[in-house]
Amino acid sequence: MSEYVLALDQGTTGSTALVFDRRGEAVGRAYAELSQSYPHPGWVEHDPEEIWRASLRVMAGALANAGASGRDVAAIGITNQRETTVVWDRATGAPVYPAIVWQSRQTAGICNALREAGREPFFRERTGLVLDAYFSGTKIQWILDRYPEARRKAESGEVLFGTVDTWLLWKLTGGAVHATEPTNASRTLLYNIHDRCWDPELLEELRVPAAMLPEVRPSAGVFGHTVAHESLPSGIPVAGMAGDQQAALYAQQCWAPGQAKNTYGTGSFVLMNMGDSHPISEHGLLTTLCCDAEGRPAYALEGAIFVTGAAVQWLRDGLGIIEDAAETEALAASLTDNEGVYLVPAFAGLGAPYWDMEARAAVLGMTRGTGRAHLARAALESMAYQTRDVVDAMNADAGTPVRELRVDGGASANNLLMQFQADLLGVPVDRPRLVETTAAGSAFLAGLSVGFWSGTEELAGARSPERLFEPRMDATERERLYGGWRDAVKRTLGHPS
Ligand code: G3P
Repeated sequence: MSEYVLALDQGTTGSTALVFDRRGEAVGRAYAELSQSYPHPGWVEHDPEEIWRASLRVMAGALANAGASGRDVAAIGITNQRETTVVWDRATGAPVYPAIVWQSRQTAGICNALREAGREPFFRERTGLVLDAYFSGTKIQWILDRYPEARRKAESGEVLFGTVDTWLLWKLTGGAVHATEPTNASRTLLYNIHDRCWDPELLEELRVPAAMLPEVRPSAGVFGHTVAHESLPSGIPVAGMAGDQQAALYAQQCWAPGQAKNTYGTGSFVLMNMGDSHPISEHGLLTTLCCDAEGRPAYALEGAIFVTGAAVQWLRDGLGIIEDAAETEALAASLTDNEGVYLVPAFAGLGAPYWDMEARAAVLGMTRGTGRAHLARAALESMAYQTRDVVDAMNADAGTPVRELRVDGGASANNLLMQFQADLLGVPVDRPRLVETTAAGSAFLAGLSVGFWSGTEELAGARSPERLFEPRMDATERERLYGGWRDAVKRTLGHPS
């Protein structure tokens, strides 16, 4: 009897595989880092073949770590870095160009031209997104404009597009299935979120041929079966897929409208379940598809913050002032407050709620006494300030305020940051025991769709609270600190790239 569900989480900085047992516990894991390529300032690319090979390796590693084999797997769930764009040749499987990563800014010019032509309201109304280089549509256009031969082949479906979920599904099924699901489709600027289909007028605007697009299927359901790959046997159903942030929302059990979560990864993504309602934000948020408790499509408001954890990575790799991300907690705690130093981590422009592709990062308020502790504290605090920006926007859009924030992802382990987050929001921050929610979400969707779990009641116990951070800061202090952040942001907006 199959004992496990295998989840593959293909993220921006690496691939993780987790093996879940029937109790919803992770019993095996493996991780592989992914090479990042920065061919020009502001561009970020990945090698799709490396993504595939690393994914196979971590799946094998996680199974071995759990003392299991592919034969014990009832289903595979896939979750992925969203928007990252792969275009490949159907016959050879060879990518036409490297994967253009969601953070990459090379299509800022295309977005600006569309904006100047007055097309933003049209895109915003149909897709719930904004015209920003973040999303897949302009990335596809950029690749096809650069390779006319690929454009010709795309028109006859010989060249295909996929976000990373689609690419991995296509590889796992030996090229038999070219499909995606609504949470990823809704990040492309090509998908009509109201009618829930690819929109011919959007495709025409971005000159993307319909024949190259994947079929959109429900997030929970059998997409196809594996063919044999190294240690992975043939015949395992790939039975659940969702973008990583929507998968996290699912695993955090934000199944009722009004419930919200924040995942602290490379960037941070605050999503609030909106049920059936899909308002277009008036405060700089996105409207996107998510999954209800049964895995059916529902809507969410999203505050997409491009850089949070990556700011700490920059302290380590760019400045070399820490050796390990975990050091920031003690360094930050060596100060009683930020002493007026703010880091605005606009390394890839600013996402929600500012949407400024030209903003660039800055450290403000330094004096001669400023040192690494200040920078560490400023990097941590910037995660909380940016979260406050989007939660304020959410409160204004949704009409009902966020009453508690569920948190997960790497930096949610940082107690100082979580306390500061609760202080800055003035609401409790709830951290579960399992913070690898992205993988868990895709495993749950896959397991439910093959009957590995009978229903959501069986999964209810899979999320258990580990610690609740109650707000402690007084309101005057909170607004003083936040006011300093707002001033710092103003000074970084609109710089020419
Ligand atoms: O929208 C981008 C997001 O899906 C990337 O998430 O965790 O890979 O940084 P992560």
